[in-house]
Amino acid sequence: MTTSARDPRPVTIPITELEQSAFCQTDSELRTRTLEDEFKTGVEWQKVPIRYLKLKPDEISEGIAEVKAELGKDLTILGHHYQRADVVQYADFRGDSFKLSQMAAAEREAKYVAFCGVHFMAETADILTSPEQEIILPNLAAGCSMADMARSEDAEDAWGDLMGILGETDEIVPITYMNSTAAIKALCGRNGGIVCTSSNADKAFDWALARGKRILFLPDQHLGRNTALAKGIKADEMIIWSPFKPLGGNSPEAIRRSKVILWEGHCSVHTRFTPQQIDDARTKYPDVNVIVHPECIQETVAAADIYGSTEKIVQEVTNAPAGSVWAIGTEINLVNRLAKENPDKTVFCLDPIVCPCATMYRVHPAYLLWVLEGLRGGITINQIKVPEATADEARLALERMLDLAR
Ligand code: 13P
Ligand code: SF4
Repeated sequence: MTTSARDPRPVTIPITELEQSAFCQTDSELRTRTLEDEFKTGVEWQKVPIRYLKLKPDEISEGIAEVKAELGKDLTILGHHYQRADVVQYADFRGDSFKLSQMAAAEREAKYVAFCGVHFMAETADILTSPEQEIILPNLAAGCSMADMARSEDAEDAWGDLMGILGETDEIVPITYMNSTAAIKALCGRNGGIVCTSSNADKAFDWALARGKRILFLPDQHLGRNTALAKGIKADEMIIWSPFKPLGGNSPEAIRRSKVILWEGHCSVHTRFTPQQIDDARTKYPDVNVIVHPECIQETVAAADIYGSTEKIVQEVTNAPAGSVWAIGTEINLVNRLAKENPDKTVFCLDPIVCPCATMYRVHPAYLLWVLEGLRGGITINQIKVPEATADEARLALERMLDLAR
């Protein structure tokens, strides 16, 4: 059924978005507490056996180190840059979404891959690894509020509507940001589309525009808009697709006139960064370099000196000369780590209120210990397995993305 044929569905805010401020604070040191204490903020995380609730951070650390050593080469731990320090320290490989997907595709030895990141990343790892390898997400509740803003059935409805109006796939090419369900990646694979991350959105736009007249970009309107503007596509050539409105809130004429159709999704972490924060940083440090992630709003990206993917932010700050000053618009766990790893530079977060990504934060080290102890006991807890038919189609779109870098 298409959106034009059904009533608009009520606006629902993903639970992950509602929980986003659960760990906001003014102290930039985010200290891991026992799971029991972190549960007191009222968050709805996956239930674990009672023993793990009370374990202290150092007891957890000892346990993880011990099981990791026992499992040896059978286990690889992947960690996204936004994971808390107490988790990322165990990662065999650290990276942004793109780098981690390349690592998953190259990993052939480990029987188990524990993915310390969020659900869509673990799905991607499952799609790119061999069928015998098992991918584990330590806390099944670690989703992504942006990915939750694009339900697969709404994306299918939208595609049906767009095909009804535009008729042919060379009229429109779907691109989905990595931060989306495997089913949306499959939609892209099946319809001549591609996946991108913030590291290669620019190349994915070129790829798509060489194959079709316009782009449907899901689910982050800001990454889509910032990428399009950088290519010289004008603001009035872009429209927003709201999943809650018939035809996304557009007329058939507006759809035919558009060059880029932006799904109405956003990242609750990166949309907190504002041009005012950049002005404040420049007042305090006249020599500051401001670098932000492209999930930030257009005005923030325009006011920054540099914008780029998580990996680009890491490279820029790491390679900068001693004494330089960096104000960063991205997730606080990464900013804190960069500040620690670059003591010869001044590195700080643009936002004075410290708000970690609430869903990345759900990977508390106690969950990692729980799943690793499961493996030691011969049980795979929290395996992420994408149904084969979906995985086959999603892999097409992912491999098109990986080919952009080859
Ligand atoms: P990258 O890892 O592609 O920079 O994306 C950032 C992000 O928000 C991951 O969820
Ligand atoms: Fe999702 Fe934003 Fe968190 Fe990334 S930082 S996982 S896009 S909510």
